[in-house]
Amino acid sequence: MGARSTPPVPLPEARWPSEAEAAAAKLFQPVRLGPIEVQERTWVPAMVPWRATEDGTVTTENLDWYGRFAAGRPGVIVAEATGIRDIASGPLMRISHERFLPGLTELVQRVHDESEGRTRLLIQIIDFLTVRRRPEPATFFQRYLQVSDAHRAALKAHTTDDRWDDVPEDVLRAFLAGADPETWQAVLSARELRDLEYGYREEVNDTHLPHVAELPQILPGLFGDAAERAREAGFDGVELHFAHAYTMASFLSRTNNRTDGYGGTREGRVRLALEVIDAVRTRVGDDYCVGLRYLGDEVIEGGSRVEDAVAYGLDFANAGVDFLSVSKGGKFDDAKQPRVGHAVYPYTGPSGHECMPTVRIDEDGPFGRNVPLAAAIRSAIREAGHEIPVVTSGGICTFEQAEAVLQNGEADIIGSARQSLADPDWFRKMRLGRGDEVRRCVFTNYCEGLDQMHKQVTCKLWDKEFDRNNPEPGLPISHDGKRRLLPPAWQP
Ligand SMILES: Cc1cc2nc3c(=O)[nH]c(=O)nc-3n(C[C@H](O)[C@H](O)[C@H](O)COP(=O)(O)O)c2cc1C
Ligand code: SF4
Repeated sequence: MGARSTPPVPLPEARWPSEAEAAAAKLFQPVRLGPIEVQERTWVPAMVPWRATEDGTVTTENLDWYGRFAAGRPGVIVAEATGIRDIASGPLMRISHERFLPGLTELVQRVHDESEGRTRLLIQIIDFLTVRRRPEPATFFQRYLQVSDAHRAALKAHTTDDRWDDVPEDVLRAFLAGADPETWQAVLSARELRDLEYGYREEVNDTHLPHVAELPQILPGLFGDAAERAREAGFDGVELHFAHAYTMASFLSRTNNRTDGYGGTREGRVRLALEVIDAVRTRVGDDYCVGLRYLGDEVIEGGSRVEDAVAYGLDFANAGVDFLSVSKGGKFDDAKQPRVGHAVYPYTGPSGHECMPTVRIDEDGPFGRNVPLAAAIRSAIREAGHEIPVVTSGGICTFEQAEAVLQNGEADIIGSARQSLADPDWFRKMRLGRGDEVRRCVFTNYCEGLDQMHKQVTCKLWDKEFDRNNPEPGLPISHDGKRRLLPPAWQP
């Protein structure tokens, strides 16, 4: 499992197809996602670009970003994880109110225009729980710690001093703020220690919090509303975000130990997901594309494994979803400790490395690394008689890789996130027999580093010929003035 110090694995050699070979390839054959037909089996998975306004409205930069991906005419683009709740969440798109509809409608129009109707645009819809930045110890002890008798008892034992029973709370707080980590370990609960060292983070298991307890009553309606808005805005479908570190994935996780019927057993853990699917279907009808992204493996201790994913896949297929997109890892549970003032980022630990694997992940490298998970799920749902397509992603960056996955029946659709970021025209170049012009992703995650810092995402390869001291007039530039916001144009 992924230590980033492993020597880099070389990129797979690429033999690109001629136009005729591409025309005959499975990769460029149509596929159905329930009610919609997709012209080719090429897919740009969701990638947040950090380009919306602070209140989640679509900007010109969003339009240009998705328009640029659409110029490469993939079968499908999935627009970034878009919030279904009307709460502040930084420059990520939101679909939590009617006021977002004009911007979202324009976005759909732009993608359809730019791809001349070839590309289907889905939108990924997401719910997430509160995550706070790692506090200064003084702030944590003064503001966040709820002082209890257990703390006083632990302090008494740790300092062998009985006076802690009666010490005023502010004195106790000040003492802890100035204490050493060993004292903190002795006095705080495991959860409080985590809040101190990583920042406060809510979990679906926190059923003592009323708003967490009532998630099963709230979320189906919120997802349903969002899906209805997606349909109204003209999106070709929705992708329910049941993957990575977010609320719905946490319900599916084996670490979900809720005792209210929505956790504990596998049936309990999948129950809310099925209720969300049902609510969405009821709202948008059978003639609208509804699929989902979830994890083939959480890659955390005590987490869900491929057996769970196979069982869930069958449940989702029975519930009538139109596609399954399989991802891996990306959890908070094993993420690295953030610096003070920063929030924990779910792609920094071993599970995160599996989610966006780099050339240094291990000796197997990132290339097609997650395919076996999609293959296991696909094989089980096919055996049960379901025809819905399965999307795989993770280090797919050559024609031969992609075509082999399809020919072997391991997946039905090829998702390429970072390779498409490096070169949004890469599918089109392959289709036109001009693969030797593909700008190849190097899988070292400069883009992910920007995402982590909540900076506008770009690819380092775009800047190779960019002169920041003398930028072309009219070229959109990042806030820091150092990077171009869009890849160079390509003439087909
Ligand atoms: C900058 C960036 C942003 C991402 N944002 C999302 C997201 O919003 N939703 C999601 O499901 N995955 C997201 N991902 C993960 C990708 O969709 C994809 O699963 C991952 O990068 C592995 O595929 P790849 O090797 O083809 O890049 C993001 C990846 C990157 C690099
Ligand atoms: S920044 Fe690096 S990893 Fe990201 S898309 Fe570009 S080449 Fe690939």
